[in-house]
Amino acid sequence: MPEPTWAAKWPELLEGPLPRHLAVIMDGNGRWAKARGRSRLKGHREGAESVRVLARTCHELGLQAVTLYAFSTENWGRPKTEVSGLMELLKRFLKSELEEFLEKGIRLTTIGQTDRLPKGVRGSLENFIEKTAEGKSLTCNLALSYGSRDEITGAARSLVRKCSAGKLKPEEIDEDLFGSHLQTADLPEVDLMIRTSGEVRLSNFMLWQLAYAELIFTPTLFPDFREVVLISCLTEYQQRNRRFGLVPGGAETKT
Ligand code: FPP
Repeated sequence: MPEPTWAAKWPELLEGPLPRHLAVIMDGNGRWAKARGRSRLKGHREGAESVRVLARTCHELGLQAVTLYAFSTENWGRPKTEVSGLMELLKRFLKSELEEFLEKGIRLTTIGQTDRLPKGVRGSLENFIEKTAEGKSLTCNLALSYGSRDEITGAARSLVRKCSAGKLKPEEIDEDLFGSHLQTADLPEVDLMIRTSGEVRLSNFMLWQLAYAELIFTPTLFPDFREVVLISCLTEYQQRNRRFGLVPGGAETKT
């Protein structure tokens, strides 16, 4: 097999497989700003720059999908000025990135209750999603107004509706069918989840999808999460031994 185009830049990554789908909890923008005596919004602006680098690098490495936790259902409870600043930042991001996404064949998708977003943001998102829908390289999936329990509850509700309407029998519900009712249905399995800023929790993020994922918690604050840190997380991922609950050597191994 020919070497991938990125091989000369990151030869260390030739040692093992890359994740098909990377999920990131982008945390620490506020702390990054506070440490510099800057506003929280400045931290988010630098975070948006990290998002750009992340999407570009995932595309360069040929990953299939990257999901970014950009705004949780809980984040609506932040001060009004911060919420509107984040929405404005998202709008600006969508405006500045469209050309590059189209050129690289990156498709944008979202998960979460996007109907709760302000009208202007929804319009920009819908336009971006429609224009990039045919993108065949990376899928960049933004979790916006997202909560995993809410997503799981929605899937359960939709299955119950189908059962009540006689379109489905309860005994036909298995893990695959349940998964196909989640908002991530058309994305590959999440192989790796990275959370920045040193916090070690999942904060209602992709609870179903992370069942077998490798988890990396890096102390790096998200505005500093650029290429070098991402590559070192991917190297760490490659060194992990993924056994999916089995033992080395398989079922015939002597115990
Ligand atoms: C967490 O940091 C970050 C967020 C709640 C928002 C994430 C947003 C961005 C990275 C920028 C915009 C995104 C896009 C897609 C353009 P925090 O504020 O909780 O940090 P703290 O815990 O240090 O206070």
